[in-house]
Amino acid sequence: MRKGYMIVCDGSNGAGKTTVIKAIDAHLVSRGHATVVTREPGGTVIGEKIREVVLCPDTPELCATAELMLFAAARAQHVREKIIPAMASGKIVISDRFDAATVSFQHYARGLPLDLINLLNDIALNGFKPDINIILDLDPAIGIARVNSRGERLDRMEREKLEFLQKARNGYLAQADRDPKRFAVIDASQPLEDVISDAIKVVDHIVAG
Ligand SMILES: Nc1ncnc2c1ncn2[C@@H]1O[C@H](COP(=O)(O)OP(=O)(O)OP(=O)(O)O)[C@@H](O)[C@H]1O
Ligand SMILES: [Mg+2]
Repeated sequence: MRKGYMIVCDGSNGAGKTTVIKAIDAHLVSRGHATVVTREPGGTVIGEKIREVVLCPDTPELCATAELMLFAAARAQHVREKIIPAMASGKIVISDRFDAATVSFQHYARGLPLDLINLLNDIALNGFKPDINIILDLDPAIGIARVNSRGERLDRMEREKLEFLQKARNGYLAQADRDPKRFAVIDASQPLEDVISDAIKVVDHIVAG
């Protein structure tokens, strides 16, 4: 019998991932589920250290290949140390970004070959797949404006040109088109309550089914 689930919330910077994840988590907890909220890069002590390196705005010289490998290293640790054990004990894991982000950012936006990204994702995931990737789809110009209005320092990815962020957005949509069973695209330009109710419908479908 299957035990836990893994739900990923992904999409453009500032699309509302962190906000929507809090709502999904509260919904699942209110239904009596045990949950683990996590994020990528990060989610483990080692992963959070890698996150500091990959997102640090003071080291723009980080090359695309090293960046890809750091994301993959953080993911390998995340899957083995946190996700698999949590799911084995029946928990629902909710992750802020996951494997699809690497395909979008490192292939579609950065231009690294897809077979290289797939290989590193395969090594990191070791046969594991999330149950659903919810993609919060938003024009990155709006996303960056939302991030700016939070008043925090922008990280290395958020400082990328709009054209780069647009390519990443299109990368998410292309992945969703290719694999509609594993992806659910939600229009994140809607009022927040509508985005949340769309996301909860997707989650209820997965967890109930
Ligand atoms: N649908 C929405 N309409 C308007 N504002 C929104 C909406 N969703 C989120 N916001 C606001 O936009 C900002 C960014 O949201 P949030 O931090 O959840 O996004 P994120 O995708 O996690 O961003 P990041 O990529 O920086 O982690 C927050 O101030 C949030 O309140
Ligand atoms: Mg966030």
